[in-house]
Amino acid sequence: MEDPSRLTREFLEELGTKKTVGEIEELRVKYLGKKGTVTEKLKSLARLAPDERREAGRLLNDFKALAERELALKKEDARRRELASKLASEAIDVSLPGIFRRPGRLHPVTLVMSEIIRIFTGMGFTVEEGPEVELDHYNFEALNIPKEHPARDMQDTFYISSDIVLRTHTSPVQVRVLEKKKPPLRFIAPGKVYRCDADVSHTPMFHQIEGMMVGENVTFANLKAVLEAFLHKVFSPQVPVRFRPSYFPFTEPSAEVDIGCIFCGGAGCGICKGTGWIEILGSGMVNPRVFELAGLDPRNISGFAFGMGMERIAMLKYGIDDLRLFFENDIRFLGQF
Ligand code: DAH
Repeated sequence: MEDPSRLTREFLEELGTKKTVGEIEELRVKYLGKKGTVTEKLKSLARLAPDERREAGRLLNDFKALAERELALKKEDARRRELASKLASEAIDVSLPGIFRRPGRLHPVTLVMSEIIRIFTGMGFTVEEGPEVELDHYNFEALNIPKEHPARDMQDTFYISSDIVLRTHTSPVQVRVLEKKKPPLRFIAPGKVYRCDADVSHTPMFHQIEGMMVGENVTFANLKAVLEAFLHKVFSPQVPVRFRPSYFPFTEPSAEVDIGCIFCGGAGCGICKGTGWIEILGSGMVNPRVFELAGLDPRNISGFAFGMGMERIAMLKYGIDDLRLFFENDIRFLGQF
């Protein structure tokens, strides 16, 4: 039997080089396994004299106990280290803020548009649409604005060609509907319009809603009642409404409609330019010439029409003082509605 302290030394030296749980387990099998060193040595004890056998057996058992203890300690140590590094590599910092996804919101112009559509459909109006790229004929001619007519200067037009324009207002939808459908008619026509104009209070594209009511006995009283009811619904039932004579080629008589300034209550402020009133829409009784141009006999029917800008109404409703905010798409602004 060789020197048992050498066996211990060799074992400890070898153990010192092992790092992982797997390597340590291999070493355990090598020394303490069924076919391991200790088993082999125990078998060879048979060849020894009884005294030597007892002494050698004791030493082997001491070695076995030491090896088991050392292996267990080292294995536990390795297991902890492996677990710690696994946890470190798989760690999730649950205190980190998550990725915040903002829910979508409706644009203030869309909100105002939907509200206005709801109010008019509530009064029996239907919703019509027309093209944004429009014939000069519908945008001007059929609305009683012939070429060279000074009223063309009221709107700076984007021309696509000599007879095609980007519509400058939603009024051409009036004519398209009159040509297509038989009176009595009550409709509104919301949509985008374009004007070659850009400064603090003008953008090349903005939104309008047109409205029209045509029938056998539609009067200015109907116009006044419908528009007053509408304005009292969008703003407040108390807001004063005023009809002011005006001119549009497609209406006769024409009126611009003002509401009492909702910022100063009519006392006069910067927004109403000291007048106490804010202009809100254009309107009038449909010019018989417009009926004629649409192929209708103006002796049998009458009607009123109106048109208004959505951005303007949104600004008044929400107290927004800069038109450009609607088009910059800053979500800090858009998120407020
Ligand atoms: N189309 C006009 C504009 O853009 C607004 C308007 C005025 C529409 C009077 C109408 C109306 O229907 O009757 O300035």
